[in-house]
Order: sequence, then C-alpha cells, then structure tokens
Amino acid sequence: MTKTKNILITGGAGFIGAHVVRRFVIKYSDYHIYNLDALTYAGNLENLTDIEAKDNYSFLHGDITDQAYINTIFKQYKFDAVIHLAAESHVDRSITDPLAFAKTNILGTMVLLNAFKALHKNNWAGKRFYHISTDEVYGSLGESGLFEESTPYDPNSPYSASKASSDHFVRAYGETYGLPYVITHCSNNYGPYQFPEKLIPLFINNILDDKPLPVYGDGNYTRDWLYVVDHAIAIDLVFHKGENHETYTIGGFNEWKNIDLVKVLCKQMDEKLNRVSGTSEKLITYVKDRPGHDLRYAIDAAKINKELGWNPTVTFEEGLSKTIDWYLNNKQWLSSVSSGNYQDYYKKQYAKL
Ligand code: NAD
Ligand code: TYD
Repeated sequence: MTKTKNILITGGAGFIGAHVVRRFVIKYSDYHIYNLDALTYAGNLENLTDIEAKDNYSFLHGDITDQAYINTIFKQYKFDAVIHLAAESHVDRSITDPLAFAKTNILGTMVLLNAFKALHKNNWAGKRFYHISTDEVYGSLGESGLFEESTPYDPNSPYSASKASSDHFVRAYGETYGLPYVITHCSNNYGPYQFPEKLIPLFINNILDDKPLPVYGDGNYTRDWLYVVDHAIAIDLVFHKGENHETYTIGGFNEWKNIDLVKVLCKQMDEKLNRVSGTSEKLITYVKDRPGHDLRYAIDAAKINKELGWNPTVTFEEGLSKTIDWYLNNKQWLSSVSSGNYQDYYKKQYAKL
C-alpha cells in the first residue's frame, strides 16, 4: 500500500515512545513509522517485539545529536512529520551529569529542527513538528494552583531547564521560519515498560527484591500521575487535531503525595504477592532529599479536554493495578533491564545490519 505519510518518531524504544510507536503502527497502516533511537540505557527494542515485523514500521539506530546522520535520513525518507520524544529524562541523572542533558535535549532538538527545515525549505503545507515536553518546565507549585498553558516557565532542575530550552527553540523556529509545531506538557507518566529508575517501577522492583524503598525527604512531594496509554492517546489527538503553534498541558487529574502513593503501591503489592499486609510498607526508608526538589506538580487539562475532547480513560486504581500486573508478568524484562542484558537483544536481533 502506498503510504500517505512518513512519520519520524524519536525515542520510540523508550517508555512513552514505545507506547506511541505501537499505537501509530497498529492504528495507522497508511503511515510509515520510522522509530529513531540511540538505544541508550533507557531504550530497549524488546519494548516493541509485538510490532517490529509490521511492514509500516522501521527502526533506525542513530543519535539525534549527529547532524550528518540526521540530515541523511531526512533526505532519504522525506519525513512529513516528526514526533519528538528522544531525551534524557531522569531528574536525578541530570543532577549528576547536566551536560549530557544539554547535549541530547537542547542540541538534539535543534539538529532535528534544522534537518526538518532544510528538507521542507519553508513549504510547510501538511507538515508538523510535534515536540513532547514536560510540566516540569513550569517549576514548582505551592500547596494550591494548577499548571496551565499560560503558566510562566520557571525550571529548577538541569533536566527541566534543558527541556525548557528545547521548547524555546521549537517556538523560535515557529516564529522565525514558520515551522508548524505543536508542544505538549504532560505530568508524570506510569505504566508498562518504564525503566526501573523512576519512582513506581523502582519501588515495584525493590519490593520484589525485598530492598529498601528510598523516599526522598519527608515524602510530602506531590505529583499528578497519568497512565502512559492515556498520554499516547493524547499525543495521537494533538498530532491529528491540535492547532499549529499551540501548546497543550496534559495531566491525570490525579494528585498524590509520594508517601501516600507509595503506601497504596505497597498495599497492592502485598495483596498481589499474597504477603502479610504491611510487609512492603516496612521497606519504606526516608533518605536524603533530592537537591532542588520541586514540591508539587499538578495540571489543568481543560484546554485539551474542551478543544480536542481528551480525558483520561483509566482510573489510578486500575492503572496502578495493571502496571503492577505487567511488571509481575514481565519479571524477565525487569531483570534484563536492571542488569543491562537487554542490550544483547539489539546485537542479536540486528547483527546483520
Ligand atoms: P525514556 O528515558 O524512557 O526514553 C527516552 C528514549 O530516548 C530512549 O529510548 C533513549 O534511548 C532515547 N534517546 C536518548 N538520547 C537519545 C539520542 N541522543 N538520540 C536518539 N535517541 C535517544 O523517556 P520517557 O519517559 O519515555 O520520556 C519520553 C519523552 O517524554 C521525553 O522527551 C520526556 O522529557 C517526556 N516526558 C516524560 C514524562 C514521564 O513521566 N516519563 C512526562 C512528561 C514528558
Ligand atoms: P520521578 O519518578 O523521578 O519523577 P520526577 O522527578 O520527574 O517527578 O520521581 C517522582 C517523585 O518521587 C519525585 O518527587 C521524587 C520522588 N522519588 C523518591 O522519593 N524516591 C526515589 O527513589 C525516586 C526515583 C523518586
């Protein structure tokens, strides 16, 4: 079948990217989806084994900061659209290695913008650059209030500063060169395939291994959690129906203080593992706080709700239960990503390339 669009999805071997790639490959057989990923520690092709043989899917192994390589693939595949998720994404790593975040998140985004601009030479009809940002660019809320599209930028971590900077470049290319972009700012995601360094999968992994659950500070930090499939649905909607040069905030209407969330997680884990109630909670250990720790994130998702009809489809109880079940049924995935063995998969699978 002739394809109506060639779409580049960056970071498709990562957590959210894998859900987006899967959705687009399965739902849109008239698109060809190119998944470009450097396969850092966070990228894992095992996340996509169910769709890798589809004829509208191709994997491209490359680095978004490599302008020569990026220019080559843009010329070769003439992408009509880019959905850009590739990033260094973990706040704690950004505190120990900020430069790596500047390189991938800022420079990498600019390299993609340049290649897209060079390919289309300002003939933008039907083209789109969709930049996936985060709510963390807005900094921290106090006890009340919500982030919305007009909230001023106020990033506090090297991660959020690098994402904020990349957002500004996307917007600047829109203003200066007319690049048709959309940007979304989503709250904390959770669900299958999340690397066990982020709160929920790390704590599931540690409970399974009877290891301490390291709660930063007093645990009274608040996040707004969204099931990853609902984020992928939002991305699909914004990609197809969002307005050029607009931004949308996306959240779960689902705020939890870390310590309360951890207690619910512990309870569900005890039930699912048939352990005596209270077993997992005993693993909670308060540890030194994260420097510059943002107190609270929470999203007002009214715009995407009113304009595009988006709402989360999964309640937190359902989402958390599904997530725990997925990790319990995929212990092999968990131990392989924890040990780094997953990188062997790529070598075996793509030995001939
Ligand atoms: P992730 O860390 O799980 O995945 C990132 C992917 O990008 C990996 O597959 C990695 O190999 C790839 N990558 C990293 N550097 C690369 C490079 N130089 N070239 C090519 N590929 C590279 O991240 P995630 O949690 O799936 O987040 C995806 C996007 O969504 C990021 O832009 C992040 O800022 C944003 N976001 C994440 C959340 C969240 O809760 N996880 C919330 C809002 C926004
Ligand atoms: P995280 O999953 O790293 O996401 P983000 O920092 O992007 O919000 O952390 C979520 C919350 O959990 C955040 O307030 C930090 C806290 N946290 C812990 O208390 N202990 C941990 O080991 C981790 C990874 C996070």
